[in-house]
Amino acid sequence: MKFFVDTADVDAIRELNDLGMVDGVTTNPSLIMKSGRDIIEVTKEICSFISGPVSAEVVATHADDMIAEGRRLAKIADNIAVKVPLTWAGLKACKVLSGEGNMVNVTLCFSANQALLAAKAGATFISPFIGRLDDINIDGLDLIEDIRTIYDNYGYETQILAASIRSANHMSECAKIGADVATAPPNVIKAMANHVLTDKGLDAFLKDWAKTGQKIL
Ligand code: E4P
Repeated sequence: MKFFVDTADVDAIRELNDLGMVDGVTTNPSLIMKSGRDIIEVTKEICSFISGPVSAEVVATHADDMIAEGRRLAKIADNIAVKVPLTWAGLKACKVLSGEGNMVNVTLCFSANQALLAAKAGATFISPFIGRLDDINIDGLDLIEDIRTIYDNYGYETQILAASIRSANHMSECAKIGADVATAPPNVIKAMANHVLTDKGLDAFLKDWAKTGQKIL
């Protein structure tokens, strides 16, 4: 499973990228707002050191305007994936922008039917939002499983990009289901390293080592 990092925080992306943990980046208008930076400028900086897909989202709501914004965003770098919302206008924009050779990430997906439409419109990525479904007491992981089944039934090449990931557990569950990509905030990716038995075991080893009086260096 590929790891995308869900942030526009350049320092956080760099730190994870140095460890080989970043196969791509996703941003959205809220994350751009949080970064406090200009969308073109910050996206350009991310693309200067990330070679995998970097999603940049349109904010227009009519298809023609989305297409114009998508074309502008796609000019930032060759690895831009234009992000469009899963509305009827967004599907029209997806069809046109993907037909022009751009990567398109269809976002705000909350149902298998929406994912089916995105695949037919030529989406490179479909972004089902797990956490926001969990927030309303619907199991978001079930949606990932349903989309995997449907795409595999018919050989759709659209990649499942599991999004709105809130916990390390979501990451391993997505990998078990067979999501192609999972995008998560930096703190969730880091939390994957944590285990209480690792901490406990290390503590015991260090205490015993201190009793030996030895040094390695
Ligand atoms: C995905 O591309 C979105 O940017 C993101 O995963 C949304 O996550 P949230 O529901 O935690 O805001």
